[in-house]
Amino acid sequence: MEDIATAIATPNIALVKYWGKRNDRLILPENDSVSITLDESVKTTTTVLFSDRLSRDAFYIDGSESKIEGVTATAMDVLMQIKKMANEKRHVLIASENTFPSGTGLASSASGSMALVYAACSALKLEIDAKGLSMLARQASGSACRSAYGGFVRWLKGSNDDGSDSYAKQIADEKHWNEVIDIIAIVDQKKKKVASREGQALTKETSKLYALRKEIAQEHADAAENAIIEKDFERLAMLIMTESNNMHAVMTDTFPPLLYLNDVSKSIIYAIHELNESSGSAIAAYTFDAGPNAHIITKKQNVHEVTEMLEGIEGIRNIIECRQGSGPRLSDASVIKDEMYV
Ligand code: PMV
Repeated sequence: MEDIATAIATPNIALVKYWGKRNDRLILPENDSVSITLDESVKTTTTVLFSDRLSRDAFYIDGSESKIEGVTATAMDVLMQIKKMANEKRHVLIASENTFPSGTGLASSASGSMALVYAACSALKLEIDAKGLSMLARQASGSACRSAYGGFVRWLKGSNDDGSDSYAKQIADEKHWNEVIDIIAIVDQKKKKVASREGQALTKETSKLYALRKEIAQEHADAAENAIIEKDFERLAMLIMTESNNMHAVMTDTFPPLLYLNDVSKSIIYAIHELNESSGSAIAAYTFDAGPNAHIITKKQNVHEVTEMLEGIEGIRNIIECRQGSGPRLSDASVIKDEMYV
């Protein structure tokens, strides 16, 4: 007997960042974070199959079998949790495909974790809502929980030890303020030097600025939610840039320092400040995760101006325009191939 389902999910970009956990195993953050879910110009499609024909579990990523280690092992632990919920004993075959333009250096852990938990729950016919999906995906990769909804999303840090009040909620859907988009400027295609799990633990252990960072990020989350509801781009843009700079300040204060930005990233920062100053209002805002690639949050009417500005900066390899997405969905198109059966 076989049960199969396929899900599609997209990444999200944090406007207010999560960096540091209060519980490593359950992935519970120290502060709320706020993000935009991206559309399917960047996406993961995952098929999950439970079958008594399988002799073992197997996990294929982009066509090749993946070792169960690191992020994949954490995702597999969450899958075991889902099997337990459904009292499922059969082996599982997972195939996951990313359609991110190749070599972009964009993280697929958020879209990958969300697509995996959605497909697994759906194959096992578990009745689960977006909040439940966000709590499962959170345990695979923290930021993944925010991909449970489209539009603008807030991940509540919660305070319970068991994580029961740490999940994502939608601030506003993708129609509320759809002028706001993300232009990704790819600066470096390599994997990040220090993975976010290790980096976050090191920051918590060594940065004296970190205690203040948690308070500041929490204030930023409230302010960002208000700016989004009121559609105040001027205020949101200021917050996004201040927030990214603040997270990178504690990263720099980590010992040894976590220096994710490079000279091209810095040129983008200067260029955006210049653009905003010369126009007398906020045209765009930059934000960077744990890497040098820039996400430029702007409005549709400014795409041409921002893209032209980016094209003038030496060292940018690729520019991808993403609109707001509508959250994960099921699909009929399986990505499992016959030769993947083990
Ligand atoms: O979910 P992780 O472990 O990949 O951590 C993500 C951390 C940042 O991308 C830097 C910020 C965020 O909130 O997405």
